[in-house]
Amino acid sequence: MTQSTLREKAKSYLTLCYHELNKQDLFDERWSEVENSISKYGTYELLGFELDYGTKVAWRNSNKCIGRLFWRSMEVLDKRSLESTDDLFEALFEHINFAYNGGNIRSTISVFNAQKGIRIMNPQLLGFAAYKQKDGSIIGDPKHLRFTEECVKLGWKPKMGAFDVLPIVIYKEGKPMEWKEVPSNLISLVSIEHPNINAISDLKLKWYSTPIISNMTLEIGGIEFMASPFNGWYMGTEIGSRNLADEARYNLLPEVAKQMGLDIRDKNSLWKDRALVELNQAVLYSFRKAGVKIIDHHSASKQFMQFMRQEAKEGRDVTADWAWIVPPTSGSTTQVFHTEMEDVVLSPNYFYQETIWD
Ligand code: ARG
Repeated sequence: MTQSTLREKAKSYLTLCYHELNKQDLFDERWSEVENSISKYGTYELLGFELDYGTKVAWRNSNKCIGRLFWRSMEVLDKRSLESTDDLFEALFEHINFAYNGGNIRSTISVFNAQKGIRIMNPQLLGFAAYKQKDGSIIGDPKHLRFTEECVKLGWKPKMGAFDVLPIVIYKEGKPMEWKEVPSNLISLVSIEHPNINAISDLKLKWYSTPIISNMTLEIGGIEFMASPFNGWYMGTEIGSRNLADEARYNLLPEVAKQMGLDIRDKNSLWKDRALVELNQAVLYSFRKAGVKIIDHHSASKQFMQFMRQEAKEGRDVTADWAWIVPPTSGSTTQVFHTEMEDVVLSPNYFYQETIWD
C-alpha cells in the first residue's frame, strides 16, 4: 500500500470512528499525530478504542454475514503486544475458551500485531481433518484435505477418524511453521441426534461448537491484521445444509435418506429435501440439548431485517451479498429472500487472504 493510500484510508476510518463515537473534538490532534507517524515510519498504530470500534464496524460491513444485528457486541482481545509463538498459541487457546463460555458463545476477536508477519494457517481454529484412502475415498472433512496433508508433513500424526480436530499451525515470516494440538479440555463437540428418528442418531455425527475464522485479514484504516481470528455462533443450516450435506463436504444426504427409508433413485420423492430438513432439525435439537448457543435460519432472517431497520434509523445503508444472506435451505420462507440488497464493499472489513501453500 502506498503512503498516500494509507493516509487516505486512515483519514477516512478515523473520521468515521471519531464521528460515530462523538469524539470530534479530539480528531484534529489525533489526525496530525497519525499523519506524522505515516510520513516518518510509513505506518501508524491504532489506539485501543480505535481498534476496538474498527473490529465492530468491520463486522457491520461484512456483506456475507446474516448475524450483523449484534455488531456492537464483539468482544475484543487486543493481543498486539505478543511476540513469541508460545504466547500466540496460548492466546489462541484462550480465545477458544473465552468464546465458548460454557456454551453461551460470545462473539470474539483476537487481534495480533499487524507488523510482525504473523499468519494462522488454519481456515478456522477448530476444524476436522481429512484423509484420502487407497481407494480414493475420503474420511473426514474434504475441505481440509490439503491442510491435513501439510499438518502431517509438519509431523502431526493422522488419527483416521471422521471428526479429528486439527492442530493449530502458526507461521511467522522467515521462520518454519509451528504447530500445537488444541488441548482436549478446550474442545467441545456436539453429538448430532434427532429427536425422534433414531436412525439419524445412529450415524454418530458430530460438529464443533464454535466457528472461529482465522484466515481472513481485518483491515481498519489501512492497517491490515492478517492474524485476527474471530467468531460468532452457528446458524444451524451452516452445519445441516452445508458442512454435513454438500457433496464436496461430508456428503451425508444419501446416507441420511437411506436411514429414513427413502427411495434415493426417485428424484420425485424429494429424498434430498426430506433428508436436509431432518438433518437440520437434528443439528438445532442437538446444540440446544448440549446447551451450545445456535440460531435457526428463520430467527436469523428476522434479526437481519431488524438490523436493516436499525441501520436505516442511524442513516446508514446496509450493504449485503444476497446469495450469502439467504439461507441455503427454505430460502423463500424467509424475509431476506424477498429483500433487495446491494453488495458494495466498505471499509473497515474482513477480507479473504491467499493461502501460503498455493
Ligand atoms: N460457515 C462456516 C462453517 O460452517 C462458518 C462461518 C461463520 N459462521 C458464523 N456463524 N459466524 O464453519
